[in-house]
Amino acid sequence: MTGELAHDPGADRLADLLRGQARACADLGSPLYAHLLTRAAEDVGAGGPARAVLAGHEDDPPGAALPLRLLGAAHRLALSGRAPGYAAHLPSTGGDGDAGAAWRALRELFGTRRAELREGLRTPPQTNEVGRSAALVGGLLTAVAGALPALGPVVPVRLHEVGCSAGLNLLLDRFRYRGADGSARGPQGSTVVLEGAWDAEPAGWAAPGSFEVVERVGGDPDVVDPASAEGALLLRSYVWADQPHRTARLEAALELARRVPVQRLRTGAAALLAGLELRAGALTVVQHSVVWQYLPAAERAAAEARLEELGATATPGAPLARVRLEPGEGDGGAFDRGETGYPVTVTTWPGGHRRVIGTAAPHGVPVRWHQGPRPGRG
Ligand SMILES: C[S@@+](CC[C@H](N)C(=O)[O-])C[C@H]1O[C@@H](n2cnc3c(N)ncnc32)[C@H](O)[C@@H]1O
Repeated sequence: MTGELAHDPGADRLADLLRGQARACADLGSPLYAHLLTRAAEDVGAGGPARAVLAGHEDDPPGAALPLRLLGAAHRLALSGRAPGYAAHLPSTGGDGDAGAAWRALRELFGTRRAELREGLRTPPQTNEVGRSAALVGGLLTAVAGALPALGPVVPVRLHEVGCSAGLNLLLDRFRYRGADGSARGPQGSTVVLEGAWDAEPAGWAAPGSFEVVERVGGDPDVVDPASAEGALLLRSYVWADQPHRTARLEAALELARRVPVQRLRTGAAALLAGLELRAGALTVVQHSVVWQYLPAAERAAAEARLEELGATATPGAPLARVRLEPGEGDGGAFDRGETGYPVTVTTWPGGHRRVIGTAAPHGVPVRWHQGPRPGRG
């Protein structure tokens, strides 16, 4: 047979997805993953083994994060000793970090471990990114400040998280945050420390000691048990293999999760919120980060409607706050213009007052808080 390969429009779409994620990885400090995804895009275009692994996913929307599912599945093989050739080149497994050699090993895996890799494409990434607590905690402190007049001096907080993965961000009050301006929040002795959490602390946050988390409840259709070996492996696999600072904070949070009780429910967004009611004498906070893009449209609408419904029942003595860190929401289109950074938004009820209070990196740290007018400090 002679002639050129038949044009494969599906391969073009897959290669676009891979290249888009490669750019994001480069921007977010992962040159290794940027290289692997760029080479995978070329391989797909050339009809190589990456094309067969990704077959059937040609129409996946960008929000489904197919490239991260793929690299997560391969990382899992390396972390669990099932892909020693690939592990030999990943920093996360003590390898040499040689990106070219890592690509050759990965390409080989596409051929030898195709079925396992394809299985890994079925579920969304379980990136339970503790760094996002730097953004979520700012929303919490803003909401607590608003609840203090009615519920202070120590506001009881009921923390509920939609799409919680392993629920690590439900421990956000137990982490230590250090801002680039020298500010610090959270318990001094915490083993989970987020360095460079934000540029400068804004005015208007609640004072230390002015709230206490009395309830931690998370829901996720693919909820992860952080205390199990399988759950910990899953979480580790979605941390990019050349980002040891993220691995370190994940490991510290996993250890903390063994000591702090969290109720983890295997349930989607709409069902979790349907079962939630406000309670007199406590601030109910619903938080979510990098979840909304995974909700089917009908579930997203049901979740939004339920939050409005709950908000309508809120009173100063039984308030509700929604804190979210989601791409493209209320940022004036910045995210769609390709500007890196997700808005941090707080909505409080009664009233349904919504504010974008800052912009965070996709993995949370650092956050740039919107500095409102500052009261005099003298
Ligand atoms: C990228 S992870 C983010 C996890 C966590 N919120 C964080 O920021 O670390 C996306 C999460 O959304 C969850 N998810 C997917 N579909 C969902 C649904 N219908 N309802 C609630 N969560 C969902 C996934 O299981 C996964 O845990």
